[in-house]
Amino acid sequence: MTAVMSFATSTRATLGADVAASRRSGRRVARRSAIGGASGSAGTADDKVKPDWAGDDLLSKVVDAAISNKVLYEGIMKPMARRTLINTAEKNGVAWRDIAEELGNEPAVKQAFAEIENKSVEYPEYYLQPFHAYAEGNLCWQAAVEAEPATYSMALRVWPKDRITADTAQKRLRDSYTGALRAHVDEFYGKEPDTIVDVGCSVGISTRYISDAFPNSKMVGLDLSPYMLAVAKHRDAGEPGSERRTWVHGKGEDTKMADNSVDIVSLAFVIHECPEYATRALMTEAARILKPGGVFVMTDNNPKSPVIQNLPPALFTLMKSTEPHSNEYYTIDIEGMLRECGFEHVHTENTDPRHRTVLGSLKK
Ligand SMILES: C[S@@+](CC[C@H](N)C(=O)[O-])C[C@H]1O[C@@H](n2cnc3c(N)ncnc32)[C@H](O)[C@@H]1O
Repeated sequence: MTAVMSFATSTRATLGADVAASRRSGRRVARRSAIGGASGSAGTADDKVKPDWAGDDLLSKVVDAAISNKVLYEGIMKPMARRTLINTAEKNGVAWRDIAEELGNEPAVKQAFAEIENKSVEYPEYYLQPFHAYAEGNLCWQAAVEAEPATYSMALRVWPKDRITADTAQKRLRDSYTGALRAHVDEFYGKEPDTIVDVGCSVGISTRYISDAFPNSKMVGLDLSPYMLAVAKHRDAGEPGSERRTWVHGKGEDTKMADNSVDIVSLAFVIHECPEYATRALMTEAARILKPGGVFVMTDNNPKSPVIQNLPPALFTLMKSTEPHSNEYYTIDIEGMLRECGFEHVHTENTDPRHRTVLGSLKK
């Protein structure tokens, strides 16, 4: 949990792009003030359900056309996206290159890879596409050793005006998620979970926060990338509670877990990486492995968030260019799909200025 403490002690979270975005959208000032303040209580613009830059709108199509120009994308946009990401992170106290180098040179990480990789896993076609500006998507060392600094930068972007460290931002983001989950469990499940699965656990940051919030539960961190899992396992070694956590190389749509065997399935920042059919398959599999009344919870970018809707063009273009399923993610009805997959008590919480958390209970 404290992996980045040492490099984030004097972070000033002043990511200019978000600040500029909030200034630009004066027409939403009244609403925005409810969500973008110093401590950033969350809220949404009720009249607009998604950004114009995603889906079928003209702006979205223009952006898609620019992205599909390979010369423009490979030669200019991709290197620019990477440079911006790394420089912004390092300016804000996240030692991106140092962490990546340290993890890349760590023999224990390679050892963990050998222990964790399940060679019989079959990767879905959508998972083999370039992603986040990595040609091999999540299936490479570079993506794995950079995932931790990228996750800390992501949390800092949520509160651009607050003078907080990367660790504080991460804790705030995760506490708001586990807080929403805890409230749902107490209200609708009524008992402590025995087993929680963190599907798409990546390098284990979400897994450890959920595990800390449910200190009597067993946790399974499951991911399709053995590279991410190798970093997760290495970082978790010796951490408090690590004896309750296991790391599994597998597919969220086909976990190989028994029917009715799990109390909570969590998907944090996974759905935006998936096409619509995969999102439905993930929910269907969650419904299969959950016990009656068991809880499904996901968090990701909030299509209704004015911050997300008003991202500067350079940012949303770069984001769309590295996340190929954005048009689907921002337009699908997550709540409706959950109900279709057998869940009730479905509701959405705006857990921070950029993200929503959607929860539901498997019908008994
Ligand atoms: C952005 S990361 C999520 C990180 C983590 N949950 C967190 O909150 O910090 C998305 C992760 O989902 C994984 N993933 C994507 N599709 C998946 C699938 N169908 N099954 C299992 N893992 C998947 C990717 O490999 C990646 O590690």
